[in-house]
Amino acid sequence: MQNIQHYIAQNKDRFINELFELLKIPSISADSAFSQDVINTAEMVKKSLKEAGCDIVEICETDGYPIVYGEKTIDENLPTVLVYGHYDVQPPDPMDLWNSPPFEPVIKETSRHPDGAIFARGACDDKGQFYMHVKAVEFMIKTDQLPCNVKFMIEGEEEVGSKSLSAFVAGNQAKLANDIILISDTGMIANDVPSITTGLRGLSYVEVEMTGPNRDLHSGLYGGAVANPINVLSKMIASLHDENNHITIPGFYDKVEELTAEERGEMAKAPFSLEDYQMALDIESVYGEKGYTTNERNSIRPTLDVNGIWGGYIGEGAKTVIASKAYAKISMRLVPHQDWQEITRLFTEHFENIAPKGVKVKVTPHHGGQGYVTPIDTIGYRAASRAYETTFGKKPIPQRSGGSIPIVSLFEKELGSKTILMGFGLDSDAIHSPNEHFGIWNYLKGIETIPHFYHFFTEMSS
Ligand code: BES
Ligand code: MN
Ligand code: MN
Repeated sequence: MQNIQHYIAQNKDRFINELFELLKIPSISADSAFSQDVINTAEMVKKSLKEAGCDIVEICETDGYPIVYGEKTIDENLPTVLVYGHYDVQPPDPMDLWNSPPFEPVIKETSRHPDGAIFARGACDDKGQFYMHVKAVEFMIKTDQLPCNVKFMIEGEEEVGSKSLSAFVAGNQAKLANDIILISDTGMIANDVPSITTGLRGLSYVEVEMTGPNRDLHSGLYGGAVANPINVLSKMIASLHDENNHITIPGFYDKVEELTAEERGEMAKAPFSLEDYQMALDIESVYGEKGYTTNERNSIRPTLDVNGIWGGYIGEGAKTVIASKAYAKISMRLVPHQDWQEITRLFTEHFENIAPKGVKVKVTPHHGGQGYVTPIDTIGYRAASRAYETTFGKKPIPQRSGGSIPIVSLFEKELGSKTILMGFGLDSDAIHSPNEHFGIWNYLKGIETIPHFYHFFTEMSS
């Protein structure tokens, strides 16, 4: 029986070259100028699933971008793993901060990746990570070692809220039936500190528009006498946190899950250096909610952040003006039991409430989703843990992440199955930022670890 390490050693260059081809297409779902590229990427994903040995491969059309579906059934009586991933990527801008073009992948060494890392938009989020599954399944099929059935569902709208996927999942429950969902779209602590993501935060994303006078005004003639939307919006946004950095929206914390001292004690055991954290970001100090550690602030606590704010004159030089309008995009990361639609409503009511007379406020919800926490006393988690133990030589640490994959909670609701988040990226891989990259070591380690999961999961299920 051929082993996975041997297969990787023989096929490593091909695995990297194939990923390069995928990374060269700018599948930016947020920008309609790239719609043909997104569609072409779906075709390439379909082809890769076919070549890996799937019996059924389909492009499933939706109201938005297509979902690529693949399947290899070996025996109806065996368990089925459903792999989810996304082939769309974030926009690359700001372009001038990239050291090499975002859609021309190159390998460069970094301090965390001495074996080299692939630099390209989507290298880690999520093309490199879902492609590990395509290659791991290729290995199992080609060497006759696939121990159970597998289904793939790779979408093209994750970075813009997975709108079409929600309807697809709700309408295809039988087709997507599975025993466990497997996703590599998160990270781990470090290459020598493997971890499995056991939680994701929910999300509510809104845009606010504030209107003052019906036109831009001379700031000398009118300044001081009418509400300046930018001043007012800034003041309102500032008031959303109190002096302890608690969020002031009434009802915001009502349903927040409070962890026990024991659970917080467990969390605190994960290796973490505040000094390294600050140094990596060039900050003198961290900042956040009073009473919580950095790792708690960015995973088990809800947050509110302005993602963008604009209005008035921002061109060269100075222009004396009071703008008629001001805008902001605001995201709230949510934790278990907070309902994103309820939070969106609470935000809207509060924001409208605190607006002074003299301005009009309009809140437009963008998208959102529920958080997710996966138990660790399940076959799925134990199988993943043993797979990591086999390939890393260490037991992985369960760790809750601050990021969001809103569709995961919907999978549980519609398909009734749990998700295992086997992410192989590092926080320093710069996902969504310029110079995104994915370690070659991580890419190959993922391909090596995944087949062990199939093996243990099938064994433990019988
Ligand atoms: N893969 C990320 C989410 C992620 C990254 C979770 C790292 C945990 C660790 C995903 O592609 C993403 O960017 N999600 C968005 C939300 C989405 C609705 C746009 C996010 O978290 O901002
Ligand atoms: Mn992702
Ligand atoms: Mn992303």
